[in-house]
Amino acid sequence: MINVTAEAYVFDAYGTLFDVHAAIARHRAEAGADAERFSEIWRTKQLEYTWTLTLAGHYVDFWTLTERALDYAFARVPSVDRALRPKLLDAYLELDPFPDARDALAELKSRRRRLAILSNGTPRMLDAATKASRIGGQLDAVFSVDAVRAYKPRPEVYALVTDGLNLAAREVVFVSSNRWDIMGAALFGFRPVWVNRSAMPEEYAERAPAQVISSLSALPALAL
Ligand code: 2OP
Repeated sequence: MINVTAEAYVFDAYGTLFDVHAAIARHRAEAGADAERFSEIWRTKQLEYTWTLTLAGHYVDFWTLTERALDYAFARVPSVDRALRPKLLDAYLELDPFPDARDALAELKSRRRRLAILSNGTPRMLDAATKASRIGGQLDAVFSVDAVRAYKPRPEVYALVTDGLNLAAREVVFVSSNRWDIMGAALFGFRPVWVNRSAMPEEYAERAPAQVISSLSALPALAL
């Protein structure tokens, strides 16, 4: 295989740069003892809706799915007070970045790599999150699935990057903490780096990541 220098590093947003459990963490005391289970159900349902709707050939934007998944979580976990709904949605718009995100982006930028986000999030969600976390200034582009009205891991979503940055897939390092997203990125031809923060078991064996790291801090030192 010809060794091509990675021109761009493209990041998944939710779960990779931004901590999806930060919303409930901000209201942990009010949410009570079932807070973690509630947050897991919220995230799991949000993703499930993206997959099922895309399989059905239908599109509903990610903010609406985030609201619907939150309402499902309230129904499944009645101990969490529904009065938290507006506070949790506000917090979701301005999620905390993981502590390793800013430094990793700054280091890659100093090495003159192009940096971008490719996310299921709507443009409004991504604008709010990148502004609140102060990482927007590091990014050359932010790609939302909204442009193609289908969700990851559909190949036309990953093609937003190659079309938008005018690069071949093999010139792009794609970074995600979601193993299923790494599978889609590998199939598309990106160089996938799996950020396996919580030591999850390997899956999708036939579409393996090029590298596995436990923190974004390890990303700039990889030979890619
Ligand atoms: C994202 O696209 C999958 O939620 C993840 O940002």
